[in-house]
Amino acid sequence: MSNPMTVIVIFGVTGDLTRRKLIPSLFRNFVKARLPRELKIVGVGRREWTDETLIDHAYDALREFSGADIDGAAWNCFKATLSYCKVNLPQPATYQNLKHHLDCLDDGSCNRLYYLSIAPEFYEDVVTNLGRLDMARENGGWRRIVIEKPFGYDLNSAHSLNEAVHSVFDESQVYRIDHYLGKETAQNILFMRFANTIFEPIWNRSHISNVQVTVAETVDVGTRAGYYDNSGVMRDMVQNHLLQLLSLIAMEPPSSFDGNALRNEKVKVLQATRPVRLCDTVRAQYDGYCRADGVAPDSTTPTYAAVRLFIDNWRWKDIPFYLRSGKALRSKTTQVNIQFKRPPNSIFELAASGDLSRNMLSICIQPDEGMHMTIQAKIPDQQIAKTVDMELHYEDAFVADNLPDAYERLLLDAINGDAALFIRSDEIESAWQIVDPIIEGWERDPAAPPMQSYPVGSWGPGAADDLLDREEHIWRVSCFEHGA
Ligand code: BG6
Repeated sequence: MSNPMTVIVIFGVTGDLTRRKLIPSLFRNFVKARLPRELKIVGVGRREWTDETLIDHAYDALREFSGADIDGAAWNCFKATLSYCKVNLPQPATYQNLKHHLDCLDDGSCNRLYYLSIAPEFYEDVVTNLGRLDMARENGGWRRIVIEKPFGYDLNSAHSLNEAVHSVFDESQVYRIDHYLGKETAQNILFMRFANTIFEPIWNRSHISNVQVTVAETVDVGTRAGYYDNSGVMRDMVQNHLLQLLSLIAMEPPSSFDGNALRNEKVKVLQATRPVRLCDTVRAQYDGYCRADGVAPDSTTPTYAAVRLFIDNWRWKDIPFYLRSGKALRSKTTQVNIQFKRPPNSIFELAASGDLSRNMLSICIQPDEGMHMTIQAKIPDQQIAKTVDMELHYEDAFVADNLPDAYERLLLDAINGDAALFIRSDEIESAWQIVDPIIEGWERDPAAPPMQSYPVGSWGPGAADDLLDREEHIWRVSCFEHGA
């Protein structure tokens, strides 16, 4: 029997994400022969495009973003999979076009992946209309839906969106994306923790002093003010990317790599997170944010946040987890730094003044992907200890290829039905439960810490350093000089 056809339907095919990420990632998977042999890709948009327009658009996207020469033979086969269908998302009648288009491609028993790469206000329209035309029902082939972030604007809206999605798709058919989970080094957190024996025995409050997650960006709000000024850093970054990294670091070992086993443990971390006190938060705007195109001149949207939180369980009770993220900062870097406790007693002289340093394990998610571990070593010919670095750079250890883009992995996993790196409905709601009170407190509570400002190209406001200083901790950025 021949393989069933797989049809990937991209809603929002004319958009930026499709051009930058989806088309290049699909093509790279295609070249690596990882996609199903019988494949069709249907681009959905509201513009008056033809199949040829889509093909030209896809070729331009590859030239601009694929990062490699385009293999001519592969392209010829790939372009034969592409077709375009016009749908006006809020208009139910136009979904008939899509149904007809898809019915002409196969006999209905194919597999279908619906990918929502569209503005979030249309998620519900698309889901409802797919349901209305019975396009989510599995009769022979599977039906899956991939939903981009942001998933909801707060807990209430995320909950109603979950309800709308569940009225058409079963949770097992739903793949909510957080592209940070597709990053190789984010996945490596799991390999590091659970494919080695040396870390797990010390991965707890007895040995770890504090954990820091930094997601720093050099870009400013750019052309995205329309979206960003309504969202801010808590919704844009902390609710999803930072809390996901946190749960990978803090979760208990799952019994297998199965999607639900893994997500059961991640969700427990979020649910065990103690409500964050406003005095454990810092919010700030980079200088000039309110003058950016599309930003309200009196905007109170934070472009930077730092948060100290605690996970109330046996492993982590009272160990601070510090999260920070911001735009227009000095370096683009995402890393997790785990600081261990100091040796209880020092019998050595030190190269620098102070106590013996804490060992620190840094996981560099990007760029310069790798791991660093600081240890104390003896300076040759002297009885003095000095901090030195043990390093693993992905580039040196795995020379063969460039690291695949996160979307390459995630698209493949969705096609293969592996939901481990996607967010489950309870996870998304638990994450909102953590950030909602902070955002509300900032907006309404007169006792909330005031908005700070920070210079473009700095490491953020001084108040974020003070947050750690209370316990004599200090932000560590090991892959880069921390110039603060
Ligand atoms: C997105 C945010 O989810 O992640 C953007 O909406 C942010 O504001 C981006 O710039 C960062 O992703 P990456 O992969 O470049 O770190």
